[in-house]
Amino acid sequence: MAKYTVVTMPGDGIGKTVLPEAIRVLEAIGFDADYVHADIGWEFWVNEGNPLPAKTVELLAKHKLGLFGAITSKPKVEAAAELDPGLRDQGFTYFSPIVGMRQRFNLDLCIRPCRSFPGNPLNFVRQQAGGGYDEPSVDAVIFRQNTEGMYAGVEWTDPPPEIRGALGTHPKFARFASTPGPDLAISTRIFTRGACRRIVTAAFEYAVKHGYRSVTVCEKPNVLRETSGMMEEVAKEVHEKFPKIELWSTNIDAQMMWLTKNPEDYGVLVAGNLFGDIVSDAFAGLVGGLGFACSGNIGEEVAVFEPTHGSAPKYADFDPPIVNPIAMILSAAMLLDHVGEEDRARAVRDAIAAVVMEGKIRTYDMLRLPGRPDVISRGAASSSGLTDAILARLG
Ligand code: NAI
Ligand code: MG
Repeated sequence: MAKYTVVTMPGDGIGKTVLPEAIRVLEAIGFDADYVHADIGWEFWVNEGNPLPAKTVELLAKHKLGLFGAITSKPKVEAAAELDPGLRDQGFTYFSPIVGMRQRFNLDLCIRPCRSFPGNPLNFVRQQAGGGYDEPSVDAVIFRQNTEGMYAGVEWTDPPPEIRGALGTHPKFARFASTPGPDLAISTRIFTRGACRRIVTAAFEYAVKHGYRSVTVCEKPNVLRETSGMMEEVAKEVHEKFPKIELWSTNIDAQMMWLTKNPEDYGVLVAGNLFGDIVSDAFAGLVGGLGFACSGNIGEEVAVFEPTHGSAPKYADFDPPIVNPIAMILSAAMLLDHVGEEDRARAVRDAIAAVVMEGKIRTYDMLRLPGRPDVISRGAASSSGLTDAILARLG
């Protein structure tokens, strides 16, 4: 029996393309694992009324390690319209299976490393004052609280009377008190001290382990005094245990500006769920975008690794597939790190770095071509062609 069992959840669209590419790399590097398939995504919503089938939850609970591709999700009304007619009006409501998985297993730490590979034509470049350009080396790792905040799902349109009543006790609600229910939408932002402490502590520990000099809390405490305020307060308290690391604080809006001005200044960043989602996508844009953006969702028992891109349905049926598998392969490397196989993880990243640096084999995104079937005839590599180049570098 292998040392590890990895639950593989390809999901929808290009999730089905990129996940097998990552497994080829894990196998080539000698990772001692078995792989068990698990269902997730749109098809299971349509046919079973549940995009995260119970069997998948069971497999994750048992094996603790997941690799996930991507899912398709659609707004409320469309989701209801596509549900199998035999299942309608039985109380099924669509939910995001990713958010579901994060909440079910309390995968409260989301880690999103955004590192530029030298030679990647998609890297951010900056114009110099005297003309010419420089290409700052970006090495930012975003720690995003993954289960609370604006994505906790506590929200209403036309909130029930007891909610209106409770909100009415806050003086600032007076302005909204006469808004008719159907015209009133409320999404809450809930932070708990324990979850703030876990994400901030994980960020500091990572900074120490990997030699970063700073942790930046990226929130908005001057406006969101309670929630962002709590994150800041906890960060200051946790910082006392890590005196060698500098603690910086930025506002999310200003951070979005600064990250294109001086991205090389930032090391580890930490934020709540929504701001972490935003700032990590922004940093990903500086290092190659969705084809390069990897992530890990880590709980106390279970961990699931996934590219941050979605199912890109318009590319799902291309033959051969053209999408960039690197984000998925880097996510698999994060899985290797997570289980302590750090040498293998490094070897995978080095192989990717070598292929990117050499620049001979590139998917369409790296060539800045529009994603059309003709990209192969215009010199782009297919998804598996790029993986082959990485495998060749692994030796
Ligand atoms: P998307 O990430 O699927 O695709 C956006 C665009 O990014 C694509 O059209 C393509 O140009 C590019 N792209 C994405 N992955 C790429 C790759 N590996 N290589 C090269 N180019 C790549 O986002 P979109 O179109 O907004 O959403 C499509 C579906 O995916 C929706 O149903 C959405 O809800 C879902 N989604 C799922 C996510 C997940 O599973 N984690 C995350 C984001 C969206
Ligand atoms: Mg996002």
